[in-house]
Amino acid sequence: MSRAHDDEWDLASSVGATATMVAAGRAMATRDPRGLIHDPFAEPLVRAVGVDFFTKMMDGELDLAAIENVSTVRMQAMVDGMAVRTKYFDDYFVKATEGGIRQVVILASGLDSRAYRLPWPDGTVVYEIDQPRVIEFKTATLTGIGAEPTATRRTVPIDLRADWPAALTAAGFDTTAPTAWLAEGLLIYLPPEAQDRLFDNITALSAPGSAIATEFVPGIVDFDADKVREMSGSFREHGVDIDMASLVYAGERNHVVDYLRSKHWDVEGTTRTELFARQGIDAPAPENDDPLGEIIFISGGLTG
Ligand SMILES: C[S@@+](CC[C@H](N)C(=O)[O-])C[C@H]1O[C@@H](n2cnc3c(N)ncnc32)[C@H](O)[C@@H]1O
Repeated sequence: MSRAHDDEWDLASSVGATATMVAAGRAMATRDPRGLIHDPFAEPLVRAVGVDFFTKMMDGELDLAAIENVSTVRMQAMVDGMAVRTKYFDDYFVKATEGGIRQVVILASGLDSRAYRLPWPDGTVVYEIDQPRVIEFKTATLTGIGAEPTATRRTVPIDLRADWPAALTAAGFDTTAPTAWLAEGLLIYLPPEAQDRLFDNITALSAPGSAIATEFVPGIVDFDADKVREMSGSFREHGVDIDMASLVYAGERNHVVDYLRSKHWDVEGTTRTELFARQGIDAPAPENDDPLGEIIFISGGLTG
């Protein structure tokens, strides 16, 4: 299945299933005795989605030897990668709110539970944007287990290729207040021009003092679909509706650090290798890494 400009999904299909996959990684990282992250909502959310493969993966019940190109070492590398990624963006939000920001927008929020688990200061409003079925599922599931947001949570169920700034503003977003933005695990699922438009819209909506965090995956530029298919294991054979090679938009695109700097964002990039080193975790060898390889985590503030 390839992408279409108006494709839709739930958490078990297409791009939506990638949200369940990364949440399973967070659930596994949460159980890791090294305790790098604590996301108690990842596990019930993944269980509620009910894709057997991800539930078993999370519970350590997959027969990894039976899955082509998957191994215990590769699985641990994925979990470690999710741990350092989650911690990087958690720390970003804590720093942004310590700096006085009280308005937060999480783009492509998927099964991100930060609105329920981070220690937001009083008065913080967290907006979450994702496709309607994704938003509805998370809200209903977390309400069902009695979870309460730790900030005022406002949902904006809309596709990010549509007029999301209008929908965000209609939901109460204040264009005069500084905002902490997050686009995590999103950009590779957007065409290059949509990535630029996303940052143009964010910039136009950002009051002075705003902050931004995202990541850039250089491997998307010279992405080799055959290699990715070969290395990703045969998810389809195991009942999972994900063919990463057909979900991402490969080819030339602007480097996010350069693009944001051209829009007056004072951002810095930190490699995932560096984040592993900071946590004292060995970075995966290339053969055990994600086929897309290195990731640059990016954060900073609007200048002027
Ligand atoms: C890999 S998941 C990441 C989810 C979340 N940010 C996280 O890190 O857990 C990708 C997410 O992007 C969302 N997404 C991708 N393209 C989108 C679009 N055009 N409009 C709205 N959501 C989109 C998907 O629904 C999914 O939740």
